[in-house]
Amino acid sequence: GELASGLVGKGRMAEPEHIFQAIETHYKKQLKLYGKQVLITAGPTYEAIDPVRFIGNHSSGKMGYALAEVAAENGASVTLVSGPTALKISHPEIRVVPVVSAEEMFQAATRFFERADVVIAAAAVADYRPRKVAEQKIKKKGEDLVLELEETTDILKSLGARKSHQFMVGFALETEHGRENAQRKLERKNLDFIVLNSLQDRGAGFKTDTNKISIIKKADVLDFDLKSKREVAQDIIREIGNALELK
Ligand code: CTP
Repeated sequence: GELASGLVGKGRMAEPEHIFQAIETHYKKQLKLYGKQVLITAGPTYEAIDPVRFIGNHSSGKMGYALAEVAAENGASVTLVSGPTALKISHPEIRVVPVVSAEEMFQAATRFFERADVVIAAAAVADYRPRKVAEQKIKKKGEDLVLELEETTDILKSLGARKSHQFMVGFALETEHGRENAQRKLERKNLDFIVLNSLQDRGAGFKTDTNKISIIKKADVLDFDLKSKREVAQDIIREIGNALELK
């Protein structure tokens, strides 16, 4: 191209954008999840009763969103399948797929599963949904109302059963016998890690900005202190990155 002297030839400085891109790629390649496809489920699901009512839960989605951000900052391309939350994501490497019900979350997660290298199921999925959704708003009748519920698909278990190369991480929220229950879930759902948070720990669990977790692996357990959800996400992503390096 044209040089500063006005001559044309070799020696022209590369465009600053290209230099910046080359430096960025160089450093990105050193990130723990560089080039990995990460599928994350987050938030609650809403199971419709009628056009205006649903069965839901207190999940804020904060843990799953923090994981998505930290994974993207570590070089991953993230698909975040999210139930209804008030949270926003702006990272260019995070694609948000909004869903409402457990069935929609199952369909969306299944769609992205094959190309995922890492799957993190942080969503609080409803285990039951009304067997029938009333077409019109249910009216008060001055008597008890019985709702019949049926089981939803266990998304993580169903993906775990089809696992090939994917590294799979689940969450367990337990009120008693945490370790034993989590260990059983790890095996039943064919997972590599299960993140246990106990509702008995103050500051842990739903709606808070902090969490206290243990990462249960097949062979050992790591206990962490009470931390912000962002720091907890950093711990989890670091452990996943370390495990992938050893794979
Ligand atoms: N999970 C899921 N689909 C469901 C239920 C749960 O993908 N229908 C995932 C959650 O995202 C979480 C893990 O499974 O990662 C554990 O969920 P939890 O509800 O604690 O466990 P369950 O298997 O439902 O067992 P239980 O209700 O007996 O505690």
